[in-house]
Amino acid sequence: MSFVPDDYTPGTDELSGKTLLVTGAGDGIGRAAALAYARHGAEVLLLGRTEKKLEAVYDAIISEGLREPGIIPLDLATANEDQYRELAQQLSGTFDKLDGLLHNAGLLGDRRSMAQTSLQLWHQVMQANVNATQMLTQVLFPLLEQAPSASVVMTSSGVGRKGRAFWGAYAVSKFAVEGMMQVWADEMGDTSRIRFNSLNPGAVNTAMRRTAYPAEPPTNNPDPETLMRGWIYLMSDASAAVNGQALSAQ
Ligand SMILES: NC(=O)c1ccc[n+]([C@@H]2O[C@H](COP(=O)([O-])OP(=O)(O)OC[C@H]3O[C@@H](n4cnc5c(N)ncnc54)[C@H](OP(=O)(O)O)[C@@H]3O)[C@@H](O)[C@H]2O)c1
Repeated sequence: MSFVPDDYTPGTDELSGKTLLVTGAGDGIGRAAALAYARHGAEVLLLGRTEKKLEAVYDAIISEGLREPGIIPLDLATANEDQYRELAQQLSGTFDKLDGLLHNAGLLGDRRSMAQTSLQLWHQVMQANVNATQMLTQVLFPLLEQAPSASVVMTSSGVGRKGRAFWGAYAVSKFAVEGMMQVWADEMGDTSRIRFNSLNPGAVNTAMRRTAYPAEPPTNNPDPETLMRGWIYLMSDASAAVNGQALSAQ
């Protein structure tokens, strides 16, 4: 059963007036979410590590005559504290609020048994999936606080809710994301203007899924563009009362 109410039908102005930041916006689910948000009236900030891919999403949004997006090149696996601070300063110099933050970027990493996972791989995955999520949320918190109703969505996974062999650092990182969401949500409570939820996309036909399951026919899984109703709902005021929930898109 979907977490989106059956009668939820977002109009093209559903997200108008909102500024939404999407991480990993150059590909897969993040690309689809950025396009969907722009198509529903939002001003979208595209954050990712491959500038060319962000520019292609920018071009796609512009070619549809939608609000001009912003591009933020940043590698979440290597970014340091100063870079996060600089980013927050730049954004607060340009925007008076941030209405939504979709933590979507994710690193699968080499899939190894726990016994064989190198410390280097472990650190890299934790840095991109866990530490970056916390650091970005923390530096953007003052801007989120300025919005009348802000939504922070942390992307999880099925293996972040039930551990599974050979999903190693990635699975553990997603458990951490779930815990991070719960702590933030509990601190905000149900009366705060900022809500925090986690979202498990389920199996989606993206580069990450194809890497994780090379023998699986890609057509077994839905394309990200077909699933965006839930992502739009979570950024819209319709979900203002939803806080601290571990949600599943499929
Ligand atoms: N697809 C699924 O079946 C599935 C299932 C469960 C959960 N998820 C989660 O859904 C989210 C999106 O995954 P996806 O399937 O859309 O994967 P994807 O197609 O591999 O896209 C991931 C995006 O994250 C970006 N990214 C990765 N590492 C980054 C870094 N260090 N700094 C900045 N950006 C970085 C990638 O940038 P580049 O393009 O430049 O590499 C890419 O744009 C992830 O959090 C993933 O864990 C996906």
